[in-house]
Amino acid sequence: MWVITATWCMALDGVRKAAEMLKDGADGADALETLITDVESNPGFTSVGYGGLPDRDGNVRLDAGFMDGTTLNTGAVMSISGFASPFRIARSLSSSELNNVLTGSGAEAYAAEHGFEQKDMRTELSISRWKQAVQQTHQAYRGHDTVGALVLDEAGNIYAGTSTSGLFMKLPGRVGDSPLAGSGFYADSLVGAAAATGLGEDLMKGCISYETVRLMKEGHSAQEACELAVKALDSRLKKARGKAGDLSVIAVSKNGDCGAFSNISEFSFVTASDTKDPCVYLVKENGNISADTAWIRAYMERHHQF
Ligand code: GLY
Repeated sequence: MWVITATWCMALDGVRKAAEMLKDGADGADALETLITDVESNPGFTSVGYGGLPDRDGNVRLDAGFMDGTTLNTGAVMSISGFASPFRIARSLSSSELNNVLTGSGAEAYAAEHGFEQKDMRTELSISRWKQAVQQTHQAYRGHDTVGALVLDEAGNIYAGTSTSGLFMKLPGRVGDSPLAGSGFYADSLVGAAAATGLGEDLMKGCISYETVRLMKEGHSAQEACELAVKALDSRLKKARGKAGDLSVIAVSKNGDCGAFSNISEFSFVTASDTKDPCVYLVKENGNISADTAWIRAYMERHHQF
């Protein structure tokens, strides 16, 4: 048995490629890397990797994280600039005993020393959007999507990964939930894995990926765990200050069942398994999940996927 699940329909092509690899018996971490680097390299997806959302100073500074649920090894890079795949660098950091999380210039020095591909991650579109925005506001914008993905492979190993540019017009150095183990992602092959997308500042307040895995460990299904974790954090934030940012979570259990839940009106995710072809689903505000093809086709057309 193998299972893949990933946030947002931008992950569809990457899930397809990862599924082909798992069909041929590939290692789950390699399949996860293929999935996430597919999203990172597509300039049509403007909040991950190449062409990601610039910060206040016009730089594209990226965050990524990786966790191996069998060894519990984690690696992450934060606010890294000038490299094609922040995820690959994060994964590489997970294999050492120390120095698993590197930021800014330290992460860039490591990546250069280890021969990771260098690339100016700005595109004409990202530069022009930044030039337009800088004339209007210096506030960070909330609209952005992180790719978060989970893979359970034939050997029973579970892996989690994320990659994002974070908020548009963020302060240089700002970091969200995505590279933080426990908030943006968490994996334990004895239980399951989870990954989050939404407003990092709020997702962090509930360590939501760890909480989702903890709920599965208590006996909840992946779907129940996602619902309970999102609803609890949403209501706790509203109790504290009357509002909550966007909170969306996906999960997979060691038994191969998947879950997804969100406090926004339409959150898309992709799943595939040894028994199910890659398919995009939509979580509606009421928690109903459907394969809403018209919506998905319109989205993919906007993002040059068809
Ligand atoms: N969830 C991604 C971020 O807030 O940076």
